[in-house]
Amino acid sequence: MYHKKQKQILPLLLLAIAVLFQVSCTKQEPSDLSSESIIPKPVSVVSTGAYFSLKPNTVIYVTGESPELLGIGHYLAEKLRPSTGYSLNVKSTADNPGKGSIILSLEGTSAAAANSEGYELHITAKQLRLTAATHAGLFRGVQTIRQLLPARIEMTERQQGPWKIATGTISDYPEYSHRGAMLDVARHFFGIDDVRRFIDFLAYYKMNSLHLHLSDDQGWRIEIKSWPNLTLHGSTTEVGGGSGGFFTQEQYRAIVEYAGENYITVIPEIDMPGHTNAALASYPELNCDGKATELYTGIEVGFSSFCIHKEITYKFIDDVIREISEMTPGPYFHIGGDESHATKLSDYIPFVERVQEIATSHGKQCIGWDEIANAKLKPGSIAQNWANPKNAGKAVAQGAKILMSPANKAYIDMKYDKTTKYGLQWAGFVEVDVSYNWDPATLVPGVGREDIVGVEAPLWTENITNIKEIEYMVFPRLAGIAEIGWTPAESRKWEEYRTRLGRHGERFDAMDINYYKSPLVDWTGLDE
Ligand code: ACM
Repeated sequence: MYHKKQKQILPLLLLAIAVLFQVSCTKQEPSDLSSESIIPKPVSVVSTGAYFSLKPNTVIYVTGESPELLGIGHYLAEKLRPSTGYSLNVKSTADNPGKGSIILSLEGTSAAAANSEGYELHITAKQLRLTAATHAGLFRGVQTIRQLLPARIEMTERQQGPWKIATGTISDYPEYSHRGAMLDVARHFFGIDDVRRFIDFLAYYKMNSLHLHLSDDQGWRIEIKSWPNLTLHGSTTEVGGGSGGFFTQEQYRAIVEYAGENYITVIPEIDMPGHTNAALASYPELNCDGKATELYTGIEVGFSSFCIHKEITYKFIDDVIREISEMTPGPYFHIGGDESHATKLSDYIPFVERVQEIATSHGKQCIGWDEIANAKLKPGSIAQNWANPKNAGKAVAQGAKILMSPANKAYIDMKYDKTTKYGLQWAGFVEVDVSYNWDPATLVPGVGREDIVGVEAPLWTENITNIKEIEYMVFPRLAGIAEIGWTPAESRKWEEYRTRLGRHGERFDAMDINYYKSPLVDWTGLDE
């Protein structure tokens, strides 16, 4: 008798425990949108204290039928499916969908919508609604949705939920229109899969441009059909004597397409007139003495130059810029122009002026390293401030705009400190705080906010040889440079940022990123 009664009580007891467990779990769930660790920090966040839940039957609705809009819906679904295990169907709708839906909608008249990458998130317990005036804005907003979910959302295997997002409103748009990173595929070559992963990193932090350094003394990395020896010969080595490599035109187009799907513009760079040994080794006629140079696998700079006074040099450059420009939908062509120590200034100036004409004739605006400001810049040309602030001043005096990449702050190939195994240190150590704690608009006297298009974090690869080493140099500094480009200077404080950044440790872990665990940051790993 007694035994039977116990049997009846047991299920009730279990139920009570389950309810209690549920309640105690609920307590830990996010309910304060304004305390979420979003990088870059949004312009405005208002919390309403409840939460929205992603459920097995959640549908992602897009308010239209264009393939581009549906594509953003599918992108979000593909990011969330592996870890949730939910089907997350993507549908287009003209109506206001029901409870539990995610809605991506092209609309808006707000300040966020006025910016070509702005977006708004309206999150209630019933619905998560993302609005933007452009597809790019929706795509940037999708990155915020990813960051509002638990870090495990980024894992590629199914994880335990719940998948809850704090409610409230986010209104967000970037401070600068140009936010990017450069990958040097010349000193060491990196294939298309590595470049795709690099693009994923940029997208996650709302960057919008990928600068590919496609040629240098040590290697030529892009197929040019009218000058085939560039890749037959000039691509066959790299720093240290490895076998190098190159992108076929088909592969380059695939990179451009993948970048485009991430609302990222590719900026191809052919560095000239210096940093040209790989081309000079491939074609004797590009040398003043008519003799091909030897291939080069060292890291010294400043010894090579195109022959400025030969017409064939300009035929070559015209063909190269034409073929690359035909495959590049973005507005820019980067002409390099740095460290041309083997070119007399009196030759350098007319060279840069002529190359600008060539790029313009193929429909492109030029970007060049800051030395190009010694030449007369064409309207629309941009000088990339890396070494000499005086050059930035000269560019601005001509009415040109500046892209900010100060080496002692924004170069993510600089070592963090003396223990860093990879990278160089000629511009000093660049710890995570150094790389975050600066304002493009006050860095160079005479170069103000209105002169600056944005920021770029270059990654040179003299001694960086694989994607894990790339990750170590990129993270966590890329996140900080992305925030400098996106978030207004008055909203950025290192002490507050370092707390948010620490919480991205578990996101890096979830994405299997090999990041530098700076001692300046209290990291939250995935297991903690
Ligand atoms: C550069 O770092 N040589 C632009």
